[in-house]
Amino acid sequence: MITTDIIILAAGKGTRMQSALPKVLHQLAGQPMLSHVLTAADTVVGGQKIVITGHGSDKVEHAIKDTDSIIVQQQEQLGTAHAVQMAIPYLRSDARVLILYGDVPLISADTIHKMLAAVSDNNIGLLTINLDDPQGYGRVVRNPLGDIEAIIEQKDASPDQLDINEINTGVLALGASQLIEWLPQIDNNNAQGEYYLTDLIALARANGYKINSIQPTSASEVKGVNNRIQLSHTERALQLQLAEELMLSGTTLADPNRFDQRGKLSAGTDNFIDVNCLFEGEVILGSGVYIGPNCHITDSVIGDGVEIKSNTVIESSRVGDHSILGPFARIRPGTELGKNTKVGNYVETKKAIVGDGSKINHLSYIGDAELGDNVNIGAGTIICNYDGVNKHKTLIGDGAFVGSNSTLVAPVAIGQQGFVAAGSTLTQDVSASALAVSRTKQRNIEGWKRPAKKDD
Ligand code: UD1
Ligand code: CA
Repeated sequence: MITTDIIILAAGKGTRMQSALPKVLHQLAGQPMLSHVLTAADTVVGGQKIVITGHGSDKVEHAIKDTDSIIVQQQEQLGTAHAVQMAIPYLRSDARVLILYGDVPLISADTIHKMLAAVSDNNIGLLTINLDDPQGYGRVVRNPLGDIEAIIEQKDASPDQLDINEINTGVLALGASQLIEWLPQIDNNNAQGEYYLTDLIALARANGYKINSIQPTSASEVKGVNNRIQLSHTERALQLQLAEELMLSGTTLADPNRFDQRGKLSAGTDNFIDVNCLFEGEVILGSGVYIGPNCHITDSVIGDGVEIKSNTVIESSRVGDHSILGPFARIRPGTELGKNTKVGNYVETKKAIVGDGSKINHLSYIGDAELGDNVNIGAGTIICNYDGVNKHKTLIGDGAFVGSNSTLVAPVAIGQQGFVAAGSTLTQDVSASALAVSRTKQRNIEGWKRPAKKDD
């Protein structure tokens, strides 16, 4: 196995973000930018990650404490070469070294592997790209034979050099021993008074090395994030990539530009997702799932053939095969719906276990409850699970029918096939197959005269 050390520069302040949060902790697809880079780096077998932190280092360290990264502080930001210098004590002498950036978050595993393959005994790898507008980037200078000779920073470039479209992405790969030998030779004699890592290229040439240039698979991989506008562009590029992966795996998206995934989404085939849906945390969709517009699904498992109508919110729950939810259903944590259930509009459930074929079609609150199979809950039924201090449970047996606008004061139980008359307030258990009626009897007054309007 080849040893690989991956240095990730993340010490910069990110002034243009206008934020108290260090730049690399701003999120893309629900995860800090830096985590995306660490995830890509994790695809290198035998890789060791060294993260250079500076501004807000305590916050950065806290955010990545569960990754197996070595964290090194750069007290003063004196330039990219100085930042890399901080990692020297941790490099393994036989390693290939790859340098990545915490604010260039979409670098792909594929490109990382191409970069590492470009390193050999007399070659170093450099990731470059041609841009129509190279403004702000270091320019890649080639000799008449086409070999890369140097990188010149924008602020140090001559007018001719400014016309070069090939730019330095910053991503670099070379042997640890070369890096250790050349880095101390870099000075800060330049327009910005910084130690430029890019000076390594000219040093490599002077030492007889050749620069292998590699191009990223897609241009969005090397987009840097300096302000919140670029952050939003990078977010959309990532979302489009996630949407395309989902479509290629057999899900139809009404509009890939109006799809958002912040976390892990796994899906079977022949699913349809309408516009403006958001998936967060870990969501698993079966096959043949239909999701209407404006749904928000977090940390949930959705079975095969489920239909989720528009504006439904589902959180930390399970939905059984062929169930129909919404529109406007709110499925709160701990809900477990069986197969073929129906939870309709303006229904809220929480910690509710609902058996197969049961229906809660309209305007209900079902919390801390266990419903058997084929239960029917009438419109407007409310479970009073909370007495102001404690939560209590409600149990409803198979085939029970709860009439509309009933109030079930927990703890309370309804036996199998029990029947609750509409408008009842239950405070006692109902035995199997019994009818419970708890409402004032209707009284009709015949020949009643309506009040007449008084003259004044
Ligand atoms: C750098 C490259 C430039 C390239 C560009 C690509 C140099 C000298 N220039 O320029 O050729 O086109 O990236 O985006 O390398 N950092 C530290 N410590 C420091 C200085 C920087 O950790 O002391 C980190 C920053 O947080 C950032 C990265 O290194 O993540 C790049 O630094 P930055 O100052 O933004 O470099 P650029 O001027 O963009
Ligand atoms: Ca800069």
